[in-house]
Amino acid sequence: MRHAGHRLWTVVLAIALAVAPAIGWAQSTPSGAPAFAHVQHLAGVIGPRVAGTPAERQAAEYMAAQFRQYGYAVEFHTFQFPFFEARQVQLQIAGAPPRAIQAEALLLTPATPPAGIEADVVFVGLGRPEDFEGRRVAGAIALAERGALTFREKMTNAAARGAAALIVFNNQPGIVPGTLQQRGEIPAVIVSQDDGRHLVEAAASGTVRARLVVDAVNETRSAVNVVATRRGTARPNEVIVIGGHFDSVPRSPGANDNASGVATLIEAARVLAAVPLARTVQFVPFSGEELGLFGSSAFAAERRQGVIVMINLDMVGWGERLMVGASPNRDDSAVDTALQVARRLGIEVSRFRAGGSDHVSFERQGIPTVFFHRGVDPSYHRPTDVPANVDPRHLEEAARLLVALIQELSQVRSSAAPVPAAPGPASRG
Ligand code: BES
Ligand code: ZN
Repeated sequence: MRHAGHRLWTVVLAIALAVAPAIGWAQSTPSGAPAFAHVQHLAGVIGPRVAGTPAERQAAEYMAAQFRQYGYAVEFHTFQFPFFEARQVQLQIAGAPPRAIQAEALLLTPATPPAGIEADVVFVGLGRPEDFEGRRVAGAIALAERGALTFREKMTNAAARGAAALIVFNNQPGIVPGTLQQRGEIPAVIVSQDDGRHLVEAAASGTVRARLVVDAVNETRSAVNVVATRRGTARPNEVIVIGGHFDSVPRSPGANDNASGVATLIEAARVLAAVPLARTVQFVPFSGEELGLFGSSAFAAERRQGVIVMINLDMVGWGERLMVGASPNRDDSAVDTALQVARRLGIEVSRFRAGGSDHVSFERQGIPTVFFHRGVDPSYHRPTDVPANVDPRHLEEAARLLVALIQELSQVRSSAAPVPAAPGPASRG
């Protein structure tokens, strides 16, 4: 009888645990199922969430509703950013017959006039200032190979020599997406290595005339970061920011990049809602990341006051193993704490260094960061980055580490240093 009773309670407990997330019971441990439900809503129901579009606003409202339901004070932090959308790119090489080459806009390129720009193509090497010596680029379409300089530097150098437009060709097979970082001065596109080499050869043996049409929207738009705040009990003026971007690139539902990260932080917010913490915590889904970290840089610049550490989650739903780190050459003292906490929980985590996401905006303000990331999946920035690309178990693991790390970082110790470094070499993951 004793055994039957034990089994009965096991069954009751299993059922309770299974239904608890679904019916929204307060539950003290992070779980993959509710986190995955957020991924399904953001990436599956809403879909692509380009900053400055109605879908982005819808996602912001959804997340705000979750935080409010858990009892957080929620506000929208509005910022302006240079919105960009490429509508059409056409590159045609004159001849009989004319030939079309596949070209893609570098982000933030200005549009050409509707009829396009028709001019000679002039090869300018890598597009360094010295590469322009003796080349007649004024009024021409400059053709530069990728490498050595940023796309923006090549564009600026070409514009300074009077070029009407710039074509960059890849230094590896295929086309890579690229950005000019800020609004460009002349239209700039990228083509494949193969197409670029053919153009270089043709230009070496005679005149190559091309027509480039870029139809693009460039305008200042506003977008919102969602800010969910819970005041600390003992040190309310010391703030832990937990962030991750919720915007996506056009045409990608952004399930792993980065509904996974915001779903994980929403799940951590749910679990911590009833847990008193000494320091103030702010959960901040950011927008405007994909075009250049615009949401997080506005937030970090305007609201860095009191922020002692920032935790960023970007792409945590796919891949072999969870990684924690900061950008190369930046303060990664808080990463030691994350590794200690992971060891205590029995979660295998590697230490790494990477930029390219919202933690960079905080590092620029001198704030220590911990970046949670799990690797780049084959669907990165593609239409196939759908919820099925995300594993709920990975979200659960990231949420468990996140919850414990927030608790650790919010603890007030008698020493002056809020985040004690781990003793000895064992702290290196
Ligand atoms: N999630 C990516 C960044 C990323 C990818 C970081 C892999 C670390 C490893 C992010 O959404 C993104 O695509 N960022 C842009 C750069 C940003 C500064 C405009 C990128 O990496 O091209
Ligand atoms: Zn991302």
